[in-house]
Amino acid sequence: MPVPPLSDGLASPAGDAGQVGRVGQVAVAGSDGVQVRFDRRGSSTEIELSDTTGRPAEPTLVRSVADAIAVIGARPEIVGTDVHLAADHPAGSLDPLPEAVADVVGFGNRRDLLQLRRALPIPDDHPTRASAPTVEMRPFRSDLDGPAWIRANNRAFATHPDQGRETDATLAARLAAPWFDSAGFLVADDASRPGELSGFCWTKVHGATAADAARGEIYVIGVDPSHRGEGLGPAFVLAGLDHLAAGGLITAMLYVDADNDTARRLYDRFGFTTHQRRRVYTP
Ligand SMILES: CC(C)(COP(=O)(O)OP(=O)(O)OC[C@H]1O[C@@H](n2cnc3c(N)ncnc32)[C@H](O)[C@@H]1OP(=O)(O)O)[C@@H](O)C(=O)NCCC(=O)NCCS
Repeated sequence: MPVPPLSDGLASPAGDAGQVGRVGQVAVAGSDGVQVRFDRRGSSTEIELSDTTGRPAEPTLVRSVADAIAVIGARPEIVGTDVHLAADHPAGSLDPLPEAVADVVGFGNRRDLLQLRRALPIPDDHPTRASAPTVEMRPFRSDLDGPAWIRANNRAFATHPDQGRETDATLAARLAAPWFDSAGFLVADDASRPGELSGFCWTKVHGATAADAARGEIYVIGVDPSHRGEGLGPAFVLAGLDHLAAGGLITAMLYVDADNDTARRLYDRFGFTTHQRRRVYTP
């Protein structure tokens, strides 16, 4: 029986339970199982198939492709959203279960996001400290800076598949998140364009888990295209990492598209290395 694409299967959830249940009666050898998590942002839903390391077992633990499809099909609220799957793999290999789920639901496009890490702090004599320009930065003001940040972000990520479409609603959701801390969201005003930002570095702190020490993330970083190549990128990376180190964190992390050569060169200069591969699957 041909396997319907996930998006088709989700289009009419009431009639699909049986069909979804029949799809992919395959247990995947070599995988201990994955947790299935759902994260809705605006009109898109991320279904994260993540390993269980260091996380408490949840009812959504699945060990076969059929179980994964059944759990996903039981969430009618994702119908009509732009659905993608995401899974974390070790830096040098692939977990077979998420790979098989993606194949079965017809999500053939794979985009790799590398999780890079480095130790903090950046030493005083690190070469980037001498070469980065001095840039005046300040914390993001939630009541004033939203529109300017959305414009700067969407211009910086104009060619990016999903980061260049921020709206008032998507920003508001993140500003309301429990982890949000304006002190870790650094922006620079653009002297040549009053009311606009030349760039920003938004950091996020992840608390320690059983499997991982606390980490400070460079969550989103961007420089307005009118200021590219002026060294603002290195200055923002440095400022973000110094902010995280000042908060006592000893590990920095970030995600970068495997094919974002400019950003990867930037992070190479700071000594980041690949820790994990996050693979995003889309139809
Ligand atoms: C990655 C980014 C933050 C770097 O910022 P930046 O201020 O341009 O950094 P730099 O000044 O060090 O310049 C980076 C490179 O772009 C080159 N460059 C120079 N002028 C440029 C221009 N007008 N347009 C694009 N790149 C230019 C620089 O020569 C440099 O090349 P190198 O890597 O070979 O040294 C910025 O390119 C950006 O916002 N990109 C889009 C968002 C993004 O990808 N963020 C990172 C996600 S993980």
